[in-house]
Amino acid sequence: MNLILLGAPGAGKGTQAEMICKEFDIPTVSTGNILREAVKKGTELGLKAKSCMDSGNLVPDEVVIELLKQRISEDDCKNGFILDGFPRTVPQAEALDKMGVRIDKVIEIYVPDEKIMGRLSGRRVCEDCGASYHTEYKKPDVCGICNLCGGKLVQRKDDDPKIVKDRLTVFHEQTEPLKDYYSSKGKLVVVEGQEEVKDTTALTFKAVRGNL
Ligand code: AP5
Ligand code: MG
Repeated sequence: MNLILLGAPGAGKGTQAEMICKEFDIPTVSTGNILREAVKKGTELGLKAKSCMDSGNLVPDEVVIELLKQRISEDDCKNGFILDGFPRTVPQAEALDKMGVRIDKVIEIYVPDEKIMGRLSGRRVCEDCGASYHTEYKKPDVCGICNLCGGKLVQRKDDDPKIVKDRLTVFHEQTEPLKDYYSSKGKLVVVEGQEEVKDTTALTFKAVRGNL
């Protein structure tokens, strides 16, 4: 099964991808995580991507498309994958179609802009493994320490409220048109993001199973 998770920054795509991955045993491909890893390692890709990411802009289509193509050709993706954060523009969606990738469902996690700020200002991520937490909604067992690997929890640079505002503008201008793109193909399912992660997850699982 090939799934796309669509949604504003901070809507909960990464959180829901992790849940689907565990429940349905499908790997997650997050372009954001791959890019952050490249930035951390200081690779050529990371150097190209860093300034776009830090300012809340998108990384150029051709860079991300090539990256995605390579990643989904790896062995673990041969029985399906969850795309978290890709496609982000209509040209990226068209590139997926050109690659011959069949998409089963596009699940939009919908959260209104006014709720996004609180979610992102409270988000903390592990600087070693990238796992995501929240100071209120998803606390780690020990404050500031990752449950999974013991790494230090830090705030993402682009979670600064000024940058979040720009990320939301970019989302509305460049990513939201994908809703029409996929709804006209009959693929779009909308999940309303709930106050509690477990309630959103219940709806997401229904969407994956075709019961929403
Ligand atoms: P990316 O990492 O994809 O960032 P994003 O889309 O802005 O999304 P986030 O990761 O911020 O949010 P999320 O929806 O995953 O939310 P999460 O589950 O963490 O991309 C980063 C950058 O990389 C981009 O700006 C761009 O520069 C570049 N990039 C990436 N892909 C690209 C592409 N295809 N093309 C071009 N450039 C690209 O949840 C957020 C917080 O809320 C967490 O703390 C979580 O615990 C909490 N939360 C989650 N669900 C709930 C709930 N139900 N109730 C309460 N809190 C909740
Ligand atoms: Mg994410």
